[in-house]
Amino acid sequence: SFTPNAFVDDCVKELQEKVGNDKVVLGLSGGVDSTVAAVLLNKAIGENLYCIFVNNGLLRKNEFENVLNQYKGMGLNVKGVDASERFLSALDGIEEPEAKRKAIGRVFIEVFDDEAHQIEDVKWLAQGTIYPDVIESVSVKGPSATIKSHHNVGGLPDFMKLQIVEPLRMLFKDEVRRVGKTLGIDAELLGRHPFPGPGLSIRILGAITPEKVRILQEVDAVFINGLKEHGLYDKVWQAGAILLPVNSVGVMGDERTYEKVVALRAVESTDGMTADWVHLPYDFLMKISNEIINKVKGVNRVVYDISSKPPATIEWE
Ligand code: XMP
Repeated sequence: SFTPNAFVDDCVKELQEKVGNDKVVLGLSGGVDSTVAAVLLNKAIGENLYCIFVNNGLLRKNEFENVLNQYKGMGLNVKGVDASERFLSALDGIEEPEAKRKAIGRVFIEVFDDEAHQIEDVKWLAQGTIYPDVIESVSVKGPSATIKSHHNVGGLPDFMKLQIVEPLRMLFKDEVRRVGKTLGIDAELLGRHPFPGPGLSIRILGAITPEKVRILQEVDAVFINGLKEHGLYDKVWQAGAILLPVNSVGVMGDERTYEKVVALRAVESTDGMTADWVHLPYDFLMKISNEIINKVKGVNRVVYDISSKPPATIEWE
């Protein structure tokens, strides 16, 4: 069986042997995987690890600032790069999910490459890739069967000329969390739900605008804070809100409204490969729905996603 302590010891030794005195660059995402990978590497090679945390403008509300501060508090050598506008302009007018992923992946590599070039003599790129990422990317080949191209796996352009190191490549999510705990990472950070690399872009169905990003950030914040306040956050594997590309009719006071619809999604899972929708309490759903419609301008209807994976996926795009 898996023992986190032994894993950390072996992994740190292996990293030291592999990387030696070379410099390593790592992209932090705010998620559990990249954070645990960073702390492991920090333990192995200290200041030779250069972390970059990119704001793609598609993170949760206040996420960039909050997480950046958290990283600094953990003693990581991290640089925050706000590239929101670059991403949003690259996404302008794009509706198709895979095209969104490709655009985001491309801009991410450009931004990351710019930053990596500023680190003199960097030799390695570290990634927080975990086992399910590897499986889902390689097991389904071919144009029709490529279910979703997880942009953080594989496909690094030659011009970066960095060797890849992926310390979590053989671990499942729960093992990564246990390793994180052994490393002394904050329980709240370790308990964070997974969040996709393309962020809110794949939860805004169809074309993305800054206004839609703002609306979805507000809705998502109400939902996630509500889950936390009601002691439900830790009972759910992943949760989020989806902004649908339709308007619906509603009434506010005496006025007819014609505004956006959002879907809420909360799933139970162990590795994201299969998932069941969570039976959130009706009282909670009622409260959150009212709060969203009252607080978030531009939304007049909330629905709850009751589909499981398969055949639905966790994300809508
Ligand atoms: P699906 O929607 O395929 O999602 O059931 C399974 C898990 O993967 C996440 N996901 C992604 N993560 N880049 C990522 O880094 C992506 O393009 C991507 N698409 C889905 C999703 O949030 C869920 O945890």
